[in-house]
Amino acid sequence: MSIDVRPIAQADLDALVAIENAAFSGDRLSRRSLQRLIRSVAAIACVAEENGKILGYALALTRRTSGIARLYSIAVTPGETGKGVAGLLMCRIEEAVRERGLRAMRLEVRADNQAAIRLYEKTGYRRFAQYENYYHDGMRALRYQKALCALNTENGRR
Ligand SMILES: CC(C)(COP(=O)(O)OP(=O)(O)OC[C@H]1O[C@@H](n2cnc3c(N)ncnc32)[C@H](O)[C@@H]1OP(=O)(O)O)[C@@H](O)C(=O)NCCC(=O)NCCS
Repeated sequence: MSIDVRPIAQADLDALVAIENAAFSGDRLSRRSLQRLIRSVAAIACVAEENGKILGYALALTRRTSGIARLYSIAVTPGETGKGVAGLLMCRIEEAVRERGLRAMRLEVRADNQAAIRLYEKTGYRRFAQYENYYHDGMRALRYQKALCALNTENGRR
């Protein structure tokens, strides 16, 4: 298996919409939202690709006034799960967040999303809070955070 993880391109939009619709049963991002997000300078987004097929994507949002990025969405095509794609996407998106000089990433996850919770805990995220009644069906969100060491990109040294 040779999976390439690269920055997202406008041409990936159709694949993103398809993944979003297949991977989530509710609270999906619309095509319009995905398009707006991937154009935004505040977004950091990447896709995992194998033999020209997009297997999954990850999207983080940044704010000029904050040193903390937010993992806004990550999803893998259902038939492609369980082979490390999300792990690769997490690695790449964290690297890109570090390259912007940010010091941490936060995220929210449905309290009943065991696969995502395991993914985040395995990749070093620690739970620090929760939001009650956060999702459309009233499910609570667990809040996670991971500290990321900023890179010194000016002279190419870490
Ligand atoms: C959560 C999701 C992104 C994981 O993608 P994936 O490519 O299958 O994940 P990986 O293969 O990289 O697995 C990494 C780790 O995540 C955990 N994990 C992934 N799928 C899991 C599952 N079905 N059950 C339990 N743990 C799981 C495991 O700890 C796994 O490591 P391991 O295989 O060494 O035990 C994918 O299931 C998905 O797209 N789900 C729907 C969308 C979603 O819920 N996104 C998160 C919103 S917050």
